[in-house]
Amino acid sequence: MKFDFFSEKTPPLIGVDITSASIKMVELSKGSKGSYHLESYAIAPLSKDAVVDGNIVELEQVADAVKRAFKLLGSREKRVALALPAAAVISKKVIMQAGLREDDMELQVEAEANQYIPFSLDEVNIDFQELGPAPNNPEEVEVLIAASRKEKIEDRVAAAEGAGLKVTVMDVETYATEAAHSLVAQQLPNRGNEQTVMIIDIGAGIMHINVLHDNQSVYIREQAFGGSQLTQEIQRRFGLTLEEAEIAKRKGGLPESYEPEVLQPFVQNLALEVARALQFFTSSTQYNRVDHIVLAGGCAAIPSVDSIVQERTQVSTLIANPFYGMSISSKLKQQQAFVDAPSLLIACGLAMRGVSL
Ligand SMILES: Nc1ncnc2c1ncn2[C@@H]1O[C@H](COP(=O)(O)OP(=O)(O)OP(=O)(O)O)[C@@H](O)[C@H]1O
Ligand SMILES: [Mg+2]
Repeated sequence: MKFDFFSEKTPPLIGVDITSASIKMVELSKGSKGSYHLESYAIAPLSKDAVVDGNIVELEQVADAVKRAFKLLGSREKRVALALPAAAVISKKVIMQAGLREDDMELQVEAEANQYIPFSLDEVNIDFQELGPAPNNPEEVEVLIAASRKEKIEDRVAAAEGAGLKVTVMDVETYATEAAHSLVAQQLPNRGNEQTVMIIDIGAGIMHINVLHDNQSVYIREQAFGGSQLTQEIQRRFGLTLEEAEIAKRKGGLPESYEPEVLQPFVQNLALEVARALQFFTSSTQYNRVDHIVLAGGCAAIPSVDSIVQERTQVSTLIANPFYGMSISSKLKQQQAFVDAPSLLIACGLAMRGVSL
């Protein structure tokens, strides 16, 4: 397998997001007029504790869920792109002389990596990409180096291979989110150009914050907050199992007291967390304002969450829809696809690697 965070577009492949709560897959193809076409997507739930903090703990269970997701997807393509969580990757921008030969550059990357990676180099995989000319000197270039421990990569590859799939790309979740941002940016005024946009992905356990300025990532943070707090409260209040609570959350059918006494307090809490993240960002960086908040992740499917966040933060807020502007296969349920879209940002960003428009 080629370990590459950065390589250019590859042959067709499926984007596979391995999270703590589920396996998500997206398959894209080339649509009309320079846009993507959504061939298919699938979400298969994962039992609790199979993946913890981005690490695969129960390999067999994960491989099994990958298999289930692949079956739901119904694709013939076996090649996949996976991503590592940002926490498993050390990345650093360095300055190098412009015009170096590939192998000279490799040597210099290794020398740089030796300085800042706290492991021996044979325990890690390293990749790099030239970003462009250095800000103040045309004789120099900026190079992004990324490294990850081999075992983190091998665990993910094993989960995919255990399901009969072949990993051709290993990316980083934050880069995949950035790639998917180009889809979401179409929802924004001026396509996000010259604007500061805070993408907040609230999943089951973690809230990922990624701020882009002029469509370039400038800030990344994560904190423990997510929909599983709501699920647990539903379980406790109404005496349900985890599975029952998950289903009730999505499909409804809970007692009348659910909305005012359980859901509303959770959403208020969520809005408060977003407001805090926003305040922390503006007070700790050179940016003193955010133009738009984009909500992603499963919690973005909660009705009215965007207007409650907007009210609290006074920042224009919208729900991420990576399928915006895409044509959608007639085999898919359009309505459901729009509900699931915000949680498929990473899988979409990965799937984009397999299509050249
Ligand atoms: N329609 C919905 N209404 C309310 N909550 C929902 C809905 N759909 C999904 N969720 C919740 O969103 C959460 C899952 O979101 P998502 O799929 O983004 O998480 P994840 O990426 O698997 O987890 P993490 O990023 O924390 O590892 C779960 O708590 C789930 O109950
Ligand atoms: Mg997630």
